[in-house]
Amino acid sequence: MQDKASSKPSKPTRRAFLKSTGAVAAGLSLASASRAQDAKVETLALDGGPKAVTVPSPGKAWQWPLYGKEEEEAMVQLVRDPSYTPIDALESEWRKHFGVPHCKAHCNGTAALTSMFFALDLPPGSEIMVPSYTFFATIVPMRLFGLVPVFVDINPQTLNFDLEDAKKRLTKDTKAVLPVHWIGLPSEMDNICDWAKEKGLIVLEDACHAHGAKLKDKYTGSWGRMGAFSFQGSKPLPAIEGGMGVYQEKNDFDRATAYGNYDRCAGEYAQYAGSGLGVKLRMHPMAAQLARLQLKVLEPRNAAGVKQTRSLNDRILQLPGLLEQTYNRPDMQRLYYSSNMLFIDEKKAGMTREAAVKALQAEGVNTSNHGYTLQHKLPLYSQAQWWHHLPVIPELPGSDKANQWAMPLPYFTSEQPELVEQYAKAFEKVWAHREKLGKV
Ligand SMILES: Cc1ncc(COP(=O)(O)O)c(C=O)c1O
Repeated sequence: MQDKASSKPSKPTRRAFLKSTGAVAAGLSLASASRAQDAKVETLALDGGPKAVTVPSPGKAWQWPLYGKEEEEAMVQLVRDPSYTPIDALESEWRKHFGVPHCKAHCNGTAALTSMFFALDLPPGSEIMVPSYTFFATIVPMRLFGLVPVFVDINPQTLNFDLEDAKKRLTKDTKAVLPVHWIGLPSEMDNICDWAKEKGLIVLEDACHAHGAKLKDKYTGSWGRMGAFSFQGSKPLPAIEGGMGVYQEKNDFDRATAYGNYDRCAGEYAQYAGSGLGVKLRMHPMAAQLARLQLKVLEPRNAAGVKQTRSLNDRILQLPGLLEQTYNRPDMQRLYYSSNMLFIDEKKAGMTREAAVKALQAEGVNTSNHGYTLQHKLPLYSQAQWWHHLPVIPELPGSDKANQWAMPLPYFTSEQPELVEQYAKAFEKVWAHREKLGKV
């Protein structure tokens, strides 16, 4: 077979191939170079060749949530015999599983974060350092209590809180830091906690993507004074909707609980039993029951997801200019959720992200020129009426870079050896043609 785009013979010599693809310079292993050589002889789907990905209905490969008979039966049981008992049961199982002293189930992660900001009991005008590269819920509820975000950059390869950038943004009003463990990758909490301690800052965590991730054998969500989890349907522990707040201190727990649970006011807040404080954020017992069942399978599922993702990434990351969302620390135990985030270094790859994405999409790979909404660029943060004082709108080059080079793949939620093989072949094929793709 001939490569349609060139008039070269279909079987170039091994040496000529390695030279032409830059495989040797890029340190490709012989095995992957040989696979890429096979891929080279195939015409790109973009040019009318066969698609590399042919597995039917690959959408099933990233199906989520995964519920079965047990969940169905539990829901039927609750309809027949309605009860609130799953909420207390979930809280007790959560404390035991994660080894935390206090936790409160909330109707979603946003409610857990809102209650956390209330629990802080900080004077209006207090500032909290937080990445702009996050979902609105990590930031916007601050304003309900006169708190003000200080936007911090992310490291473009971890997509997590950049401590060095935070150091430059400290003000006299900064009172807390709030890292997010983006799509299951733990932030470097040991370094963040050390710096926060030195500066007298409170550490909070948005662990809404990281149920069961660890650093130094310590769970995300349990490093800070308070942490929040989401059980929304796409999350690593899905209950369709739901959330959990984790508290190291009893008074934070009492205050966060009193905020949205008129019937659970205790400690200093016992006097508000019956009146509550004006909102009701109790978790739905059906969601609590789903969360209990999903908690039972969380750890093996996380481990299977890591294994599955490694089987693809360890192969394709040998291609020049292709990177993944990570950092190099053996004491970090991540999980995957939602997407398998890759990045393309255009110089090293010899082609633009746009060219690679277009060619990969034509091969049947589910990827995109990914851009995530940066909160600091939204109108809300520049309008004085919503804030105690206006947040500073900074330049965040790491966050911009993340949006320039990210190229996500779906997170395969079950074992998919055939699809992994086909995705790997698609990448190897596209990379084998990168010289030509780089010229267009
Ligand atoms: C980083 C982050 N924090 C908080 C939340 C809020 O969680 P929920 O959707 O359960 O309110 C989300 C939800 O997507 C999120 O991605």
